Amino acid sequence: MADLSTVFTGIRFANPFLLASAPPTESESNIMRACEAGWGGVVTKTIGLHPVVNVRGPKTKFLRTDDGGTRVSMAKRPDASLLASWNWELISDTPLDAWIPRLAAIKKAWPGRVLVASIMAGSGNDKELANWQLLVQGVQDAGCDAVELNFSCPHMDRVDMGANVGKDPVLCSITTQAVKEVARVPVWVKLTPATANIVEEAEATFLGGADAISSSNTFPALPLVDPDTLEFEVNVDGYVSAGGLGGPAILPQSLAKMAEMTRAFPDREFSGIGGISGWGQAFSYFMLGCGTVQVATAAMLDHAIGPNVIRDLTAGMTAFLERNADHGWTSLADFRGLRRGNVVSQSAIGRPDPATYHGGRDEEAEGYAVDPA
Ligand SMILES: Cc1cc2nc3c(=O)[nH]c(=O)nc-3n(C[C@H](O)[C@H](O)[C@H](O)COP(=O)(O)O)c2cc1C
Repeated sequence: MADLSTVFTGIRFANPFLLASAPPTESESNIMRACEAGWGGVVTKTIGLHPVVNVRGPKTKFLRTDDGGTRVSMAKRPDASLLASWNWELISDTPLDAWIPRLAAIKKAWPGRVLVASIMAGSGNDKELANWQLLVQGVQDAGCDAVELNFSCPHMDRVDMGANVGKDPVLCSITTQAVKEVARVPVWVKLTPATANIVEEAEATFLGGADAISSSNTFPALPLVDPDTLEFEVNVDGYVSAGGLGGPAILPQSLAKMAEMTRAFPDREFSGIGGISGWGQAFSYFMLGCGTVQVATAAMLDHAIGPNVIRDLTAGMTAFLERNADHGWTSLADFRGLRRGNVVSQSAIGRPDPATYHGGRDEEAEGYAVDPA
């Protein structure tokens, strides 16, 4: 019998599929709908203490491709395929005091769904570290099952916030440690993928006491310049700043970041994020060793909270387990991490037999011409 339930950082989940911190989890009503739709858990839109004012105009746009891939644009048009989301949205503009009763109400209505509060403060001084502690105490007293520290928001000007924390191993360690001093619930940390060697930040975060790492947040990205208007496709008074790319385009990159970490820390817990819209993509994260996965872009485009996405994920996992019942597989624990060890360095990959090797130019391969010589 297929069993979708799992235990991650000591918490029992009805299934390993969560809504990531993003617009689908920005409000009590969205989260209630998500619980009803069957998500195993949700990570709230990031909650902070600093006032938040977003830019004028759209905060998120969707990049689509058509005409055989020759046209990539945010313009809405039929028959184009989704390539990515692009956003420059800040964290929740609902203050902590307003979130607390809402978190309590969600937990009361849906005790069997896992409620994770994403939180963020600065990290540059003791007052800011005390802010992290205030946030943790507030959300755990409201009944949240875990916290996820946002060390990954890509559009922060402050040097001690968001992705700028995730790029600094010392800040990663100190901030996690400050949170762990007061946390009674598991502490997940969401790292930025925009670093040279994410294993260094992961190591520092685990040294600080993190119970799990979530990855990836969006990758730094700019909109295209429209050849007709000569303006960026998203701009305010002609100006733009780097935002974050999510959705299908980041899936292989996020998998690569995740593989680096799961290989370095095979006994640690990881939540995979980036480009998941159905079982096929979630499966790759599980095979690399992730214990849960999270979804943002695909859920935004499916009735704002992803009722069809969660249906596909749970149906896909059930069908997969049933197909593999003869291996004795009944749950995620039976196949999690099976391909983690297959990601190796280039020099460890097999080479052709020298006797039959002709420079690799005698076979037809997509994107290469056969060498007539
Ligand atoms: C509009 C938008 C807002 C987001 N806001 C947050 C946020 O407040 N906190 C956070 O940790 N991640 C935030 N994210 C990142 C997502 O949680 C997720 O890591 C990223 O989008 C990659 O997943 P996806 O490919 O499923 O979209 C946001 C993403 C989008 C598209």
